[in-house]
Amino acid sequence: MKKILAFGASNSKQSINKILTEYTAKQVSEASYELLDLNDFEMPIFSVDREEKSGIHSLAVKFKAAIKEADGIIISFAEHNGAYSAAFKNIYDWVSRLGRDVWESKPLFLLATSPGERGAQGVLELAHSRYKHSHKNTIATFSLPSFNQNFSADKGITDEALKSAFNEQLSVFVEALKNN
Ligand SMILES: Cc1cc2nc3c(=O)[nH]c(=O)nc-3n(C[C@H](O)[C@H](O)[C@H](O)COP(=O)(O)O)c2cc1C
Repeated sequence: MKKILAFGASNSKQSINKILTEYTAKQVSEASYELLDLNDFEMPIFSVDREEKSGIHSLAVKFKAAIKEADGIIISFAEHNGAYSAAFKNIYDWVSRLGRDVWESKPLFLLATSPGERGAQGVLELAHSRYKHSHKNTIATFSLPSFNQNFSADKGITDEALKSAFNEQLSVFVEALKNN
């Protein structure tokens, strides 16, 4: 059985991106999934001086190992001031020191959501435009606008058009996962 690594790129306990990530992982019936919590990977702020003095932080090595073990990766990004949350960016910076292909060219499903109408599209575009250069595998993307209006705990994505767009991207990811 294929194994998915999934996490919300947020350190909030109430994270709507964590909710969307878990919902998405559950839709992939052909795979098991492991949900990471970024709070378990809190490290000092990356700096080249720290790296030179003490090497790569052990939690970054652990995070990279989880990526390597997975057959596919689902991430839903919180948008903070048009960019990544600081919690995610710090992990990303540390892990990027272990190789340019951070996601090990595993099939990726990148999502983002926010309470606002733009659905954190800014951070999703930022992530996609960055990863596509080094990534040699499929990258599916989906942004869910107005989370509180378009998502419910029991029904998932409630808006039909958004659900259909989500399913399309989910199929792209699942197909790549099967072939990986
Ligand atoms: C510091 C900060 C900056 C934010 N900046 C944005 C933003 O640029 N765009 C946006 O849509 N929402 C922004 N928000 C609102 C977040 O989308 C909202 O807090 C959302 O719940 C974050 O996702 P999470 O629940 O998964 O952490 C911001 C929130 C915080 C705390």
